[in-house]
Amino acid sequence: VKTSLVHRYEPWGTARQIMSARDPELLVSGPAGTGKSRACLEKVHTMCLINPGMRALIVRKTLSSLGSTALVTFREHVAKESLQVGHVEFYGGSPQEPPQYRYTNGSVIVVGGMDKATKIMSSEYDMIYVQEAIELTENDWEALTTRLRNGKVSFQQLLADANPSTPTHWLKQRCDRGLTRILNSKHEENPTLFTREGTLTDVGRSYISKLDNLTGVRYARLRKGQWVAAEGLIYEDWDPNVHVVDKFDIPEVWPRYWSIDWGYTNPTVIQMWAEDPDGRLFLYREFYMSRRIPADHAVAVLKVVAPGGQWIEPKPTFIVTDHDQNDRIAFERGVGLSSRNAKKDVLNGIQAVQSRIRIAGDGKPRLFLVRGALVERDNNLVDAKRPICTEEELPGYVWDISEGKQPKEKPVKEDDHGCDALRYMVAEKELGPSYRFRSFS
Ligand SMILES: Nc1ncnc2c1ncn2[C@@H]1O[C@H](COP(=O)(O)OP(=O)(O)O)[C@@H](O)[C@H]1O
Ligand SMILES: [Mg+2]
Repeated sequence: VKTSLVHRYEPWGTARQIMSARDPELLVSGPAGTGKSRACLEKVHTMCLINPGMRALIVRKTLSSLGSTALVTFREHVAKESLQVGHVEFYGGSPQEPPQYRYTNGSVIVVGGMDKATKIMSSEYDMIYVQEAIELTENDWEALTTRLRNGKVSFQQLLADANPSTPTHWLKQRCDRGLTRILNSKHEENPTLFTREGTLTDVGRSYISKLDNLTGVRYARLRKGQWVAAEGLIYEDWDPNVHVVDKFDIPEVWPRYWSIDWGYTNPTVIQMWAEDPDGRLFLYREFYMSRRIPADHAVAVLKVVAPGGQWIEPKPTFIVTDHDQNDRIAFERGVGLSSRNAKKDVLNGIQAVQSRIRIAGDGKPRLFLVRGALVERDNNLVDAKRPICTEEELPGYVWDISEGKQPKEKPVKEDDHGCDALRYMVAEKELGPSYRFRSFS
């Protein structure tokens, strides 16, 4: 019996160009929600259908983030019908093989993260799609280009999408130098947001109004699609390539510290830090969750650090929290540990953090975030396009220069909850009673 499948996808504007482009490196840039990822996934799927035996790779910096984003769109929209009738099947992987979608015509789409690259990098591909390519390093990118030589398709392509970052980002520079072609996608090209005539749909109206509520550099990038730097950055030396490190096994003997900024409508941020023998701090775990009360935070925390009532890592040497007494007490009761009030002097705290972020004489900073520290994504924040972890706050944490204020007086009080907890942590270490802090340079 012959089955014929009906799959509906209408590429508009840039999406149409993506489908036909054969450039060896192609970046689809644009604000949030224009249909970048959808278009890239549709292309990979279509190519797998028409080129039997082809091998594709869908990759993101971490495998876990891929699972919650691109693969959902792939399953629920792009390959939906093919999966239903069995033209495509998901194979969950084995110790030897990475997870993959297998087509009855012999084509394969491998899925993976650059955080666990061995399995995916030992293969060759005809096409690679990188989701949120700004998260990669240029080394990651170049390593991927060497994997494109399977030869089952008449051209090879490293296809990527991204929301804009800074104009100095290596990927933008690569586009400016002409190594990578860039296509700029727009909201008007997403038929769920706009009609053909260019008027907003109901869905579009509510989505765009969410983006219009963003401020500063997040507004410029996620609403307007601009590669711009934040003005008045507080942590100017912050560089994800330096300060964000891969997960590693933390030795038992490293002391642990917890730092908390309370919120309810805004997220509560609970950071867990480990300190190496040289005094470097690593944020190895983070709870970043709105609309959850302290007692429930305590439950969520214990589930991770003491599953079944057994502590599986050292208890914190101290817990610092901001000054909300009720929240503090409820949390203390819940976890069975006491805490202390954070040193809240903003400017001294910021200075202490700046000093730790700066690269010291030995070529290293004194503060790191561990990739994948976030325990659980807050979908309310995802929907609102707010930062979902401290790492996402830092590049937009800026001085308030409104109404003639001088920079370096005070920070903008927005999307700063992880930055506050981070500052409490460093202040507790650095700002003794005399409020002097050690300089490492
Ligand atoms: N041409 C299209 N037809 C139908 N739905 C689309 C189209 N383009 C995008 N969408 C839908 O719009 C939403 C946002 O698209 P997505 O690709 O995730 O945006 P981006 O990657 O640019 O943030 C998704 O649900 C996607 O399926
Ligand atoms: Mg996307």
